[in-house]
Amino acid sequence: MSLFNVYPLFEVTPVRAKDAFIYDDKGKEYLDLYGGHAVISIGHSHPEYVKNISEQVAKIGFYSNSIQNPIQSELAKKLTHLSNCKDYELFLCNSGAEANENALKLASFHNKKKKIIAFKNSFHGRTSAAVAATDNAKIIAPINAQQEVEILELGDLINLEKALSKNDVCAVIIECIQGVGGLDESTSNFYEGIDKLCKKYNTCFIADEVQSGFGRTGDFFAFQKYNITPDIISIAKGMGNGFPVGGILIHPNIKASFGLLGTTFGGNHLASIACLTVLNVLEKDSLMDNAKYISKYFIDQANEVHQIKNIKGRGLMLGLEFDFPIAQLRKKLIYDYQIFTGSAKNQNLLRILPPLTIKKEHINQFFNALNSALNDLNY
Ligand SMILES: Cc1ncc(COP(=O)(O)O)c(C=O)c1O
Repeated sequence: MSLFNVYPLFEVTPVRAKDAFIYDDKGKEYLDLYGGHAVISIGHSHPEYVKNISEQVAKIGFYSNSIQNPIQSELAKKLTHLSNCKDYELFLCNSGAEANENALKLASFHNKKKKIIAFKNSFHGRTSAAVAATDNAKIIAPINAQQEVEILELGDLINLEKALSKNDVCAVIIECIQGVGGLDESTSNFYEGIDKLCKKYNTCFIADEVQSGFGRTGDFFAFQKYNITPDIISIAKGMGNGFPVGGILIHPNIKASFGLLGTTFGGNHLASIACLTVLNVLEKDSLMDNAKYISKYFIDQANEVHQIKNIKGRGLMLGLEFDFPIAQLRKKLIYDYQIFTGSAKNQNLLRILPPLTIKKEHINQFFNALNSALNDLNY
């Protein structure tokens, strides 16, 4: 059987990884400034992570959500402490799309409405409602297109109020800093405006923190820069440092009842220990402070490169915008300089999503390579 061919692949076969480095089957070392798409938060194969998951699987790796699982409760407690989202409750699932799917479904259960408002260049995942709320017609199948979704421009509070006042919108979903779309972020006036309008019209405000959460921006959640209280916060990616896990944080104004949501695998023993370990390491090793510190250093270096026209994002969720498509540059960085970076819907944007453990020496390595690669390509 061959594999269903949906991914364009680089000719690299990683077989092992350590902190910010990946090693291929020929022993070649690559610097990972992509984190497998913003997933690696505490570094590849962190010793505490390896130890805790190994010990846990030797004891019990999985049982369904019909039994007591104290690791989930410990995880919820630690998450409250680090995120400072004090009153929220936690529902665990397996991925970012699933987190958003549950968030949208819960919003609709809660206020009995069914339309979704999302924003231009959004990406919320590939499941039913999540993909319908994603601004990319190519990945929306007819079965998804039956969802009622309106896509607005970032910053457009006037049309947002017009839509909400019709009283049929269950949720407004937004990435505070867009990921795949290209690192765009609107103003505090806009995010605070959404918060107010959602409260006024009994609509749920969903903050999609799948990519920007878990310390990536230097704050636990990107939305915390603003004075807003989302009804639901969706999480995944950095949460498990590679272990597939997602979840939603739910404000107490939304009430739980048996059977409202459910999952077989979500929050299993292995997923929970992976996530708990990520939180412990984030705190112990002050990785959010590191994200802020290295971000500043990175931006200072980027300002010295004249081909870079714009620096976008926050913390270690960054984008370098050029006035040419970056596909060739990205390939050159991988094949000739052994550095992984990311792309975006905006074809001129090189995305930087390293482990939060990254150090100045790695940033220096990147900028030396970037300058040489730009020179090689005559940019
Ligand atoms: C902001 C955002 N939401 C949701 C998702 C979907 O997550 P997953 O691929 O885990 O389903 C992604 C993935 O890139 C994302 O960046």
